[in-house]
Amino acid sequence: MQVTIKTPEEIEKMRVAGRLAADVLEMLDEHVKPGITTEELDRIAHDYIVNTQQAVPAPLNYKGFPKSICTSVNHVICHGIPSEKKVLKDGDIINIDVTVIKDSYHGDTSKMWIVGKPKPGSERLIQITQECLYKGIELVKPGTRLGDIGHVIQQHAEKHRYSVVRDYCGHGIGKVFHEEPQVMHYGKPDTGMELKEGMTFTIEPMINQGKYQTKLMADGWTVVTKDHKLSAQWEHTLLVTADGCEVLTRRSEESF
Ligand code: MF3
Ligand code: CO
Ligand code: CO
Repeated sequence: MQVTIKTPEEIEKMRVAGRLAADVLEMLDEHVKPGITTEELDRIAHDYIVNTQQAVPAPLNYKGFPKSICTSVNHVICHGIPSEKKVLKDGDIINIDVTVIKDSYHGDTSKMWIVGKPKPGSERLIQITQECLYKGIELVKPGTRLGDIGHVIQQHAEKHRYSVVRDYCGHGIGKVFHEEPQVMHYGKPDTGMELKEGMTFTIEPMINQGKYQTKLMADGWTVVTKDHKLSAQWEHTLLVTADGCEVLTRRSEESF
């Protein structure tokens, strides 16, 4: 399927879905503490999305994914499966990735937490990764090309001697969870598709402390760093407007 340009009615639904996804991350904040399991975080998020928001957790049963959120701890890059065996402990870093469907439209967003007291290096990795997302977002407007976004993210990560994961990328989003285009987090300026008003897509850089190579675990989902060093990720769903962009999954702590 080709890139879809959303109508004003669709954009309003994307705003609602984006807001709900952001709300889930804000709600989870107080629960991300040493001692909680990722399974408990999944249950809290599931109940909130289904009962309070009357929405649908998009990951649940998506291509066979068994849970409602992704919880990726330490060297897990993405798609970590919540488990009663995974107890968060002091110094862990965790990404929680939430996607909700409301009125047929998707909102997709993720953020990082440090559990308890940070270990050396983890705060910096998390901060630089968030800056990579924000530098990408700053470029989003009609006429910008996808390679420009990938380039600015790669430059910032590599300047700090981190690496950009190649095997997973951002994506168009709407009625379909993952639609065209693919949004790489590395690339060359003035290459790739040109952004147009009404496009909606995610930017979700995965940045590694060590090398960029990934390994898929035997569960068929969990993606880890091959060298077992830390990885961080932040994600927003964006709308291209006439003169810039709207961050559909903005949280109240953010000042776009
Ligand atoms: N939310 C992820 C993304 O940003 C996709 C998760 S798919 C799942 O694209 F099946 F693992 F949940
Ligand atoms: Co996504
Ligand atoms: Co996501």
